[in-house]
Amino acid sequence: NAAEKGGYEHFMLKEMYEQPKAITDTFSPRLKDGKIVIEELGMSDEDIKAVRKIMIVACGSAYHTGMTSKYVFEGLARIPVEVDLASEFRYRDPILEEGTLLIVVSQSGETADTLAALREAKSKGVRVLGIVNVVGSSIAREADNVMYTWAGPEIAVATTKAYSAQLIALYLLAMKFAHVRGELSDEGLAEMIEELKELPAQVEMMLNNQNKIQKFANRYLAARSIFFIGRGIDYAISLEGSLKLKEVSYIHSEAYAAGELKHGTISLIEEGTLVCSVLTQEELYKKTISNMVEVRTRGAFVMAVTNVDNTEVEKAADYVVYIPKTNKYFTNSLAIIPLQLFGYYVAVGRGCDVDKPRNLAKSVTVE
Ligand code: G6P
Repeated sequence: NAAEKGGYEHFMLKEMYEQPKAITDTFSPRLKDGKIVIEELGMSDEDIKAVRKIMIVACGSAYHTGMTSKYVFEGLARIPVEVDLASEFRYRDPILEEGTLLIVVSQSGETADTLAALREAKSKGVRVLGIVNVVGSSIAREADNVMYTWAGPEIAVATTKAYSAQLIALYLLAMKFAHVRGELSDEGLAEMIEELKELPAQVEMMLNNQNKIQKFANRYLAARSIFFIGRGIDYAISLEGSLKLKEVSYIHSEAYAAGELKHGTISLIEEGTLVCSVLTQEELYKKTISNMVEVRTRGAFVMAVTNVDNTEVEKAADYVVYIPKTNKYFTNSLAIIPLQLFGYYVAVGRGCDVDKPRNLAKSVTVE
């Protein structure tokens, strides 16, 4: 067992360290001569141009990659996107019009609700694309087309590397769609491809911060509640940061769209409550900083994860983690790393069974 973990204390830590490779393995087979080629998509340029709406359906962390990619597809390709939890989608008699592309995202390819959502859409004649990690899984077999995330086997219940690979697959799709539909120029695409190729080394760099994050995490082992806030893509990142933490550490945590704080959560802030704020979207910096000030005034200790150029944030934060420069649509891939490490080290510090948290399953094959 120790050998399987390759010298790491837990699979979760090992898999976090495999993220640069998972990212590279997911994008490199799809980059050819400066273009994005996704043969397995089975869609011609005409098919791509005919898409009027995208629906992304998934559970858990895979749902969070869908939330993130909503901003990417809409911002980059100008295609309206609806994101739904598979367990909700399947029972709400969804309106599936012609021209809708349904994307299901799943690490295992066996999640019961996601599989049911796929079947529901197929029975209504909608094309289903699966973004799946496990080769030959049920979703991979039943989807009209499947785009694999090449993260390799994931053992830890809390997903890290499959999540990172899903993000990459979705970025590639959004870039491809944007380019084919004339929303992204050749130069724009070339630039984004260069930025994509920098991600593995940048993720590596974020992972090298582990000692600092561990020290920071050790201050919060007795926390009762930890909050995460952000706007736009940063809200999606917050949801995943919060889920990682609560899954493995059993500390209550919630993520809020920062603008929603005033509508309830702020009443939970007490002296010393930790609020992790994510600020990677430049046009939203000011708005989120004002929310940080609000919680800090009420006694919160504020941690921020932000872009390297946003030193302004230091005025409103007690602890700052910077991420290197990347495309604004790719920031999740970097900002999630310190949050994964934080959740992991809080759990380790509390003596939790990190790889197999109580009550959770790697793959939820029953409803
Ligand atoms: C379980 C796992 C999560 C995962 C979710 C969806 O709850 O613990 O880590 O995100 O299922 O799984 P899937 O295999 O469909 O991605």
